[in-house]
Amino acid sequence: MTPLDPTVKSLITDPYGAYDTLRAKAPVHRVVGPDGLPVWLVTRYPDVRQALADPRLALDRTHAAPGNYRGFALPPALDANLLNMDPPDHTRIRRLVARAFTPRRVAALRAPIERVAEQLLDAVEPSGRADLLASYAAPLPITVICDLLGVPEEDRRDFRAWTDTLITPDPTRPEQARDAVKAMLGFFTGLIARKRAEPADDLLSDLIAVRDEEGDPGTEGTGDRLSEDELTSLAFLILFAGYENTVHLIANAVLALLTHPEQLAALRADPELIEGAVEEFARFDGPAPLAIRRFPREPVTIGGVTVPAGETVLLSLASANRDPGQFTDPDRLDLRRRENGHLALGHGIHYCLGAPLARMETALAITALLRRFPDLALDVPVERLRHRPTMRARGLLELPVRF
Ligand code: HEM
Repeated sequence: MTPLDPTVKSLITDPYGAYDTLRAKAPVHRVVGPDGLPVWLVTRYPDVRQALADPRLALDRTHAAPGNYRGFALPPALDANLLNMDPPDHTRIRRLVARAFTPRRVAALRAPIERVAEQLLDAVEPSGRADLLASYAAPLPITVICDLLGVPEEDRRDFRAWTDTLITPDPTRPEQARDAVKAMLGFFTGLIARKRAEPADDLLSDLIAVRDEEGDPGTEGTGDRLSEDELTSLAFLILFAGYENTVHLIANAVLALLTHPEQLAALRADPELIEGAVEEFARFDGPAPLAIRRFPREPVTIGGVTVPAGETVLLSLASANRDPGQFTDPDRLDLRRRENGHLALGHGIHYCLGAPLARMETALAITALLRRFPDLALDVPVERLRHRPTMRARGLLELPVRF
């Protein structure tokens, strides 16, 4: 095992290079994590995959040893979500969401996604250049997820600023993150009250119905029910997860294509490649480099290293997805890659709930973009592009293109 690395800087500035070095050296490393505390970082594909499905690794933060974890401080009404839960609570809530978040509901979003994509492209087309992140990759998923949940248009504008603040908080201004959390909580509580009074054909109304259908809505979440905190937390998680990751999968995919002209040409020549291409975009440069942190309930041996109970384990999806032990030529973008068992959307009981939607949205977004702009190109040298300064997320700050 390597000694405690006091900085994770290279994991931010050059994550794939840094992960290559770490992975070649050892399967598990003790490093300083994003919250400034020591964590165990797991780098190899077989270990990451196995650990993602290991029930001894808890997501519920109460399994963290005292002083061992300093994560987002969310109020209970946002924190009672699937990514902070283990069975049986996780099983109960995931089952309830599955009842409302049906394949029919996802399929019904296809035409609206295509329509919104075309509208966004109409808006940028006359100028001949755009920041594709701000004008396309971000507004598309926010519109889709807000339509799905039933968030009215006028409430959508602040959401991007709040989520950005939470993903990359400014350490010198802690009040910003606190204010964003407060604003989000107020927003979700108000939205649920309105939907409860006036239900519509949307996911949130259905989840409220699931919560309220059997008896008194004041009863807290036992048996088959959702508590009020669980309901707000679920709405928050779906909106946050459904937006944040999809934006960056789309933008990272566009960047991958623009920096691999032969792959771009292949996709233009055969648009049917798009399904496999989306899997390859997710493997090659997915937006979630790390799984949600996990805490061993008991000492657990991963890659030959025994991690004590209550310590923090970070499973690197980005590193696993570039593991040469698993993928042939892992640093090559290959839209025709076969047997792409990437872990970009997780694995096991926490496997991404929105995976079908994320895949469809990315495929439609890329297809519409390439169809509209045959001369799409980067508008700055690639070295000038900057990523968000965090090891938690992998995404660009801007994506200037011309067409
Ligand atoms: C490109 C887009 C996306 C990526 C890369 C992504 C990635 C992930 C990953 C890696 C996990 C597992 C976390 C873990 O086990 O540690 C996860 C879980 C989850 N994702 Fe996604 N996601 C995406 C889009 C979405 C969308 C569109 C939605 C909702 C509409 C969504 C909702 C969720 C939820 C609710 C969970 C928690 C599931 C559970 O704990 O049972 N995600 N996602």
